[in-house]
Amino acid sequence: MNIRLADGRLLPMEMHQVKIVQKKELVPCGRRLQAIEEGGYNTFLLRTRDVFLDMLTDSGTNAMSDRQLGAMMVSDDAYAGSESFFRLKDAIEEVFGLKYVLPVHQGRAAENLIAKVFVKPGFTAAMNYHFTTTKAHFELAGGSVLEIYTDEALNTRSTVPFKGNLDLNKLEDAIRTRGADKISFVRMEATTNLIGGQPFALANLKAVRDITSRHGIMLVVDGSLISENAYLIKQREIGYADVSIRDIIREIATLADVFYLSGRKSCCVRGGFIATNNKDHYDAIMPWLPVYEGFLTYGGMSTKEIEAMAVGIHEMTDIDVAGSSVEFIRYFAERLIENGVPVVTPPGGLACHVDAMRFLPHIPQIEYPAGALAAAIYLSSGIRSMERGTVSMDRDKDGNDVPSDLELARLAVPRRVYTLSHIEYAVDRLTWLFQHRDLVQGLRFVEEPPVLRFFFGKLEPLRGWGGRLAAAFRKDFGDGF
Ligand code: F0G
Repeated sequence: MNIRLADGRLLPMEMHQVKIVQKKELVPCGRRLQAIEEGGYNTFLLRTRDVFLDMLTDSGTNAMSDRQLGAMMVSDDAYAGSESFFRLKDAIEEVFGLKYVLPVHQGRAAENLIAKVFVKPGFTAAMNYHFTTTKAHFELAGGSVLEIYTDEALNTRSTVPFKGNLDLNKLEDAIRTRGADKISFVRMEATTNLIGGQPFALANLKAVRDITSRHGIMLVVDGSLISENAYLIKQREIGYADVSIRDIIREIATLADVFYLSGRKSCCVRGGFIATNNKDHYDAIMPWLPVYEGFLTYGGMSTKEIEAMAVGIHEMTDIDVAGSSVEFIRYFAERLIENGVPVVTPPGGLACHVDAMRFLPHIPQIEYPAGALAAAIYLSSGIRSMERGTVSMDRDKDGNDVPSDLELARLAVPRRVYTLSHIEYAVDRLTWLFQHRDLVQGLRFVEEPPVLRFFFGKLEPLRGWGGRLAAAFRKDFGDGF
C-alpha cells in the first residue's frame, strides 16, 4: 500500500511488522574486494557472510508470514495420501480455479515435466520471453524457443505499461510459417523476468488465448510472479482498477491450458506446482511425476512446505502482499532516476533493473557490462545483484558469445525483507558508483561451464579495475565501510 505524504509523494508502506530478524554485517570494502576476487567476479559465488543486502533474487528469500510458519507445525507427514497435499489442492482450486494439481520441488521441475511431455525435437515453444531454466529444458528436449515480444519490450526507457505483451501479429505469422502442429505451445510468463519484470495485460492474454484456441495450440502460463502481474494489471489496465487481485489471478490462471509456478517466488516457500483443468494433460504428465519428483501427494516438497504453500497461495491474493515489492521497486527506481542512474522503465515486478549499457556505455557486450556492473555494485555497497545479460546467455554451437538483448544488473526486492533505509542506502551507493563509472571496465571468463554458465563461471576484471574502484571507494568513505 502507498501512503500519500503531505507533499504529495507516494510512500510505499510496509503493511506488516517485523517479528523475527536475521543479524547482518556490512563487511568493509577491503574484504569485499577479496570476496569478489575469490568468487571470480560472479555474484553467485559469494558467501552470504560477505553480503549485506542480498538482492540476487526473490527466489526462496521472501519473508514468510506467521501463519505460514504456524501451518508448518501441523503438517501431515506421509509418503502417500497426505492431508497436507489435499489442503494445497483445495487452495489451488479455490484461488486459481484449477482442479488437477501436480506438486514439484521448484519451478524448473515443472518446466522439466512440461518439456518432457509436450516439447518434441523440431517443435517450437513460442513465448513472450524466455527464462534461463525454461530455455534450457525446452532445448534439452529438442525443441526451440521462439520469442515473440512487442517492439517496445526491449526499450529500457519506455512508458508503455505492458512490455510483457506478446505481439499478436508476429504470433499469427509464426503459426503460418511454422505450422500450428509444429508449435508445442505458447507460453506466457507473468512478468517477463529477463527483460525487467514487465507484466502482460489481461487483454493481451485473452487475445493470445483466442488465437491459440483457433489453431488448437496449447496455452501455458508461467505464474511465478502472477500476483505482481495481477497488481500491475489492477494499477495499469483500463477496467481493472476495481477488480480484486484474487479475481485477476483467477482470470489469468483459468485462461491457461496448463499453469505452473515457482512457489519460491509467489508463494514465499520452496516448491512449485503444475495445475490444469484438462484431464488429458494431467494424465500425460502424472506418470512422470514419481520418476523425477516424488509421489503425487508430495512431488519433492516436504509436507511442511506444502502446508506453508497452501497458506501462501491465499496470502498472495492480498493486495498488500502482491504490491509489497512492486511499490518498493517503484520507489527504488524513482529515486535512482532522480539521481540520473539509468534504470529500466516503467518499473515492474521482481527487481529494480539497472541498464548496464547506459551505465557503462564504454564496455562492449563481449566484455560483459552487466556482469561488470553487478561486481562493481557489490564492491561499492556489499549489495549482491545478479547479472542478466550476455553472461546469462550460453555460447552458440560454434562457441561464440550470444549478445543478450539487454544488459541488466538486477537488484531484486524480495517481499517484506528490506526496509526503506536499505533502499536509500542502495540508491546512495549506486549513485556514487554512477559518478565513478569510468573506473569500471569489462570482464573475461577464466573458467566457463558449458550450460547456464552464469551460475558457476569465473571471470577476471580487464586491466585490474577492481582494485582501483575499491581504492576510490575507500578514499571517499574510509576503511570501515
Ligand atoms: N519461471 C520464472 C519466470 C522464474 O523467474 C523462475 C525462477 C523459474 C521459472 C524457475 O523456478 O527457481 O523455482 O526452479 N527464477 C529465479 C530468479 C531463479 O532468480 O529469477 P525455480
